[in-house]
Amino acid sequence: MDMTISRVDPAFRDDVRRCFEDQSHAIPARWLYDREGSELFEQITALPEYYPTRTETALLESYSGDVADMGGKGRAVVEFGSGSSIKTPHLLRATEPAAYVPIDISGEFLAASAAQLQNQFQQLPIYPLEADFMRRIDLPDEISDMPKLGFFPGSTIGNMVARTSVDLLRFMRETLGTGSQLLIGFDRIKDPDVLVAAYDDSAGVTAEFSLNLLHRINREMDGDIAVDQFRHIAIWNDLYARIEIYLEVQSDISFSIDGHPYDMIKGQKIHIENSHKYGLRDARLMLRAGGWSPVREWSDEKDYFSLILAEANPYKNAP
Ligand code: AVI
Repeated sequence: MDMTISRVDPAFRDDVRRCFEDQSHAIPARWLYDREGSELFEQITALPEYYPTRTETALLESYSGDVADMGGKGRAVVEFGSGSSIKTPHLLRATEPAAYVPIDISGEFLAASAAQLQNQFQQLPIYPLEADFMRRIDLPDEISDMPKLGFFPGSTIGNMVARTSVDLLRFMRETLGTGSQLLIGFDRIKDPDVLVAAYDDSAGVTAEFSLNLLHRINREMDGDIAVDQFRHIAIWNDLYARIEIYLEVQSDISFSIDGHPYDMIKGQKIHIENSHKYGLRDARLMLRAGGWSPVREWSDEKDYFSLILAEANPYKNAP
């Protein structure tokens, strides 16, 4: 009997098998973020072509005071996704929260980012929560009576298709409760050349980030995929208003994963990521579909990125 304890997440194994077995040739983007992938993503955020992180950080620096003035002060800040050491402090400084709850599916990242923030904000009660924020979450008892300000930066919502985004916004409303606020980042539609460059940078870091998914399959699922036979491709799909990322195979190849043989023919692509972009009122409509009423939107001077503050008002009869 094989007594080895597999370290592969069974959901990852299922998604990889489905990708090659039913010929869907698509793998959910969340699997891009193992340790190596997360480190590469950190590098992406500092690339000259990747404008979202620095644009959103500047917006938070300029407008967190406005968020505080609009009722965001003194609430419990609940951050969906691991707290970034550069973005979150601007919000925490301005809103002087009663508590801070960073939520992340990876306990490792959570502990590191919580410790870093605790260093900077020594008086702030921090309650890290290891959980999947794609469903309703029970928040720590310590903050149950506090008004809440949800924080979902980075346009991470853009990595989900519309129906999943709306589900997520509804879950966030259930998690945070009526009367809560949500500050959320949305990447805007812009010149496709600017968008494609942001997802296909000249230093090749984004390509490395994408190809790491195949390395991850090889590492965790005993695969022998010839990664050097794949090319990272980023295209702008105007109909869906999104950047699509694919790994395209450059020759006919055979490989095995977990002992199962697979073939791909030259030119076939694996779809590994979408990054949706939003027109002027698209993001507000998305929020409303998810049960949130937008109350204010801030953008940079080029309209590259928006931060929206929304509220979970009691539902009323609609005409
Ligand atoms: C995490 N997420 C918002 C990034 C984005 O811009 O869609 C992921 C990313 N993928 C390649 N570059 C950045």
